[in-house]
Amino acid sequence: MTNAWSPQSWQGLTALQQPEYPDQGALEGVLARLRSLPPLVGPGEVDRLRALLSEAAQGKRFLLQGGDCAERFRDCHGEAIADKLRILLRMSVVLTHAGRCPVVRVLRLAGQYAKPRSAGTERVDGRELPVYRGDLINELEATPEGRASNPARMQEAYFHAAATLNHLRSLIEDGFADLHHPERWDLPGRTGELPAYQDVIKEVRATLDFLEALGVAHPGTLERIELFTSHEALLLPFEAALTRWIPEAQAWYNLSAGMVWVGERTRALGGAHLEYLRGLRNPLGVKLGPSAKAEDLPKLLELLDPAREPGRITLITRFGEDAIRAALPPLIRAVQATGHPVLWSCDPMHGNTTSVEIGLSPDQDAKGHRASGAALGAVRRMRTVKTRDFGAILGELSQAFELHRANGSRLGGVHFEMTGEEVTECVGGSQGLTEADLPRAYETGCDPRLNGAQSLEMAFLIARML
Ligand code: PEP
Ligand code: CO
Repeated sequence: MTNAWSPQSWQGLTALQQPEYPDQGALEGVLARLRSLPPLVGPGEVDRLRALLSEAAQGKRFLLQGGDCAERFRDCHGEAIADKLRILLRMSVVLTHAGRCPVVRVLRLAGQYAKPRSAGTERVDGRELPVYRGDLINELEATPEGRASNPARMQEAYFHAAATLNHLRSLIEDGFADLHHPERWDLPGRTGELPAYQDVIKEVRATLDFLEALGVAHPGTLERIELFTSHEALLLPFEAALTRWIPEAQAWYNLSAGMVWVGERTRALGGAHLEYLRGLRNPLGVKLGPSAKAEDLPKLLELLDPAREPGRITLITRFGEDAIRAALPPLIRAVQATGHPVLWSCDPMHGNTTSVEIGLSPDQDAKGHRASGAALGAVRRMRTVKTRDFGAILGELSQAFELHRANGSRLGGVHFEMTGEEVTECVGGSQGLTEADLPRAYETGCDPRLNGAQSLEMAFLIARML
């Protein structure tokens, strides 16, 4: 695997989780077009994120990464994007203030369009259909046409990512993130929930006034924030088409996001995904779950980080609250033995997923969305959905902090599936959501997300652990 690298050198290796594209001509046409389109982020942004993550790896910052599990094209509208930015800003201000630690903000957004799946097909209403693999590949709608992989969706993904990024940048440029105006991050219709948050905001404002009066804080420096995007680099032809040679740096960059990561299901040693990632200058995430073996880590780290750069690799563990205690320490020790300066992050979402049967209210369709026209019939139907328990998420996180500490390591980041919207997908938290609440606003295209209130509460609890 350590032969010459190119954006296509993965092609000879086994690439898991890739769709079939029967029309090779159509596929090649789309990829050629993607190669000719401008990059979505600049190499300078990628370098900056690597520098910030390097500081995080050295204990000087904390990584907050979060956003949708599966981003949908139809969610590419102003309010939904602003909501994600709002919740990330609210969490980061809590972590920075209460945790006294500068935060690196990375959204799972503007590119999180492809999903690894545990099976290739599923049975829906008696029919065997390909599974939904994310809007980059096919449609959620369970019809044979919808579930066919369509390469034209890659071009759509590019333009949706561009529109999303453009809106994020314009919000920030217009002062949306200005610390003097935290009211801009209030979630619509729910001002003033969580008094502790209002207290933090009051204190932050008082501190700002004080610093500005002293002349210490430059007016202007507090009005802008740095924000980066990230996604799982799953669909390799797409990622390769957005990979560019930067002569000034003499290096290859994936210019569709600041950070890209490899998932639990595709990080096989000797596989195509690691081969693709190793040639990039971007900071890289690696998900480590129940299938991770401590003895594989030295090879993985040597392959992805031969220069041993802090910030190059973020190891994102996701075991579940019942498994982390046994699973994490051997990995920490294996990494310590190599001397690779990784940043450790915890994804407390993916190991804590359970399935429950929920009743759909009469005016909801089978996906849980409100029917727009006539009621769908008064018979209460059941549907199996995934959920996650706030307490389990917190349980894995607090153990991650503790286990790192006990093993002479440091947890330097967290990774969430979350949204600012008032969805009801995860149970628990101070709102006391139960399984009975799930049908009310179950909107995710894939995994259950923390809602705005649950995310903010989580930030307070993390700040305490920092
Ligand atoms: C994800 O982050 O959405 C995901 C699928 O994670 P993992 O690879 O850890 O299962
Ligand atoms: Co997910």
